[in-house]
Amino acid sequence: MCGIIGYVGTRPALPILIEGLRRLEYRGYDSAGIALAQGGKVEVTKSAGRISVLEQRLDFALPQATGIGHTRWATHGAPTDLNAHPHLDASGKIAVIHNGIIENDRALRTYLERQGVQFKSETDTEVIAQLVGHFYAGDLEKAVRQALHEVSGTFGIAVVCADEPDVVVAARQGSPLIIGVGQHEHILASDAAAILAHTSQVVYMGDGQIARITRDDFRLTTLDAIPVAKEVEEIEWSLEEIELGGHEHFMHKEIFEQPDALANCLRGRIDVREGMVHLGGLVDCARELVRAKRIILTACGTAWHAALVGEYLFEELARIPTETEYASEFRYRNPIIDDGTIVMAVSQSGETADTIAALTEAKQRGALTLGVVNTVGSTLARGTDAGVFLHVGPEIGVASTKAFTGQVAVLSLIACYVGRRRHLSTAAAAQFISALAEIPAQIRSMLEQADDAKTVAERYAGLDNWLYLGRGYNYPVALEGALKLKEISYIHAEGLPAAEMKHGPIALITEGMPVVVIATSGSQYDKIMNNISEVRARGGSVIAIATEGDREIKKIAEHVIFVPDTVEPLQPLLTSVPLQLIAYHAAVIRGCNVDKPRNLAKSVTVE
Ligand code: AGP
Repeated sequence: MCGIIGYVGTRPALPILIEGLRRLEYRGYDSAGIALAQGGKVEVTKSAGRISVLEQRLDFALPQATGIGHTRWATHGAPTDLNAHPHLDASGKIAVIHNGIIENDRALRTYLERQGVQFKSETDTEVIAQLVGHFYAGDLEKAVRQALHEVSGTFGIAVVCADEPDVVVAARQGSPLIIGVGQHEHILASDAAAILAHTSQVVYMGDGQIARITRDDFRLTTLDAIPVAKEVEEIEWSLEEIELGGHEHFMHKEIFEQPDALANCLRGRIDVREGMVHLGGLVDCARELVRAKRIILTACGTAWHAALVGEYLFEELARIPTETEYASEFRYRNPIIDDGTIVMAVSQSGETADTIAALTEAKQRGALTLGVVNTVGSTLARGTDAGVFLHVGPEIGVASTKAFTGQVAVLSLIACYVGRRRHLSTAAAAQFISALAEIPAQIRSMLEQADDAKTVAERYAGLDNWLYLGRGYNYPVALEGALKLKEISYIHAEGLPAAEMKHGPIALITEGMPVVVIATSGSQYDKIMNNISEVRARGGSVIAIATEGDREIKKIAEHVIFVPDTVEPLQPLLTSVPLQLIAYHAAVIRGCNVDKPRNLAKSVTVE
């Protein structure tokens, strides 16, 4: 996902812009650039590759106090110097950086070319720059407004102009922008991580808004020039939360943060004695939620796996028909949304393009929409009728770990919240909530003996095909374990409902092939033990995730990693943790870039 940083103030802008871009690196990018405005000109420096390549081209002695910076994840046009942002207009006096996709860029490009404009790049962003230059007549804010009236698509942009060197103009439509409020300075960014070093006072821009930012003030208006009130908020996350904190990788840090992260997620939301769940974000829609006829969960990737656990939870605890849809499929399949349908989007970043589009589709068809989101102020968090934040803190590693367990925990809370207002007895709810309250401590105890996972990784990291099997609540965990391994160690892995193996995939099993089987205590234990025997009969090496105290499993599995006992619906919160660690250690052994895996971005904000 692209990153935006802007600065206008009293300090030299360049070091601030570079430091801000570095804090945005984790989002994934393939080129970067800077524009500085002062003394009647705009100086643009940009390059394909990492920020370190850009730095070699920069003169850090430049005193300019106004500037913008960008990290680009290529969508229109290859990652080249020419396609990197910022882009200039024909006069060379206006520079633009942009997150998002302009959908009518071809028509606008043709129009401008007929006006004599000669484009230098293949990007849709240059169309914005040329359009602003086309309208510019001494008022940058006005020219940006006029240009954006011609544009359709999504954008988060920042613009500087040689003739207005103390101004940054920003605009947002579908791609987040935050304004950090400092002392005689303002920092604009697409992500709080780039602002926290300077201030924790921020204003989240809304869709359809333009900001004209100077050193001592900024004004917010709509695209139609209607003033918008500024709501200054405090960023919840501290900078150290974003730093590595002594861990080798963000992913490792975030795996080990899960006890605290889940404790924060549950804090103030459960009453064990009363068997009650308190979710302030659902109060206004509790009645509709409790009377829902159908729930549709929609998400992508790991969030989709968490949603699949949610489907089992809602049907068991709330007794409401529930289905889980890939957001990218849901939005194009003419979904049936009728009275009593609730659509719930699950997302760590709150900026996943497909999930946002699916939610928009659901809203247009009249669904009550809820968000299960980690990032406050994100597009999904602001675009739903109601919702519940994960409160697990910023997740920097591309591979989602604490956000997955946070999503499952929140879905567990919501299912119990609704179930308790429907058919779930106080005693059953109290037992469930009591087990949920134990989870953080149980994960903490598991992490104290995390070497088992490393041993498994050391044994099998050299092999290129793994299978993951699970049943019931642990079927989504098998899918998630396979995804974790694939996305950071580049080992091919497939997750399956264990019983499905005999309908084809069992043909894959060869001598010594690693097969991870989640075989915890529960209603399908005997069945999963049979599946393990089927794997062993064909020479597969079984890595079992089992419940502490199980004496049978050691007799039939090559490796056993034990997890504490808990009620079946909460097992994913425990069984997913060793699978995260197996993937992590396999990636480290294979020398992969754990936090920034190839081809991946932390948040996929393009379709
Ligand atoms: C998971 O490890 C991946 N990073 C990816 O599948 C991710 O879960 C997916 O892109 C959804 O992201 P979101 O939760 O921010 O919407």
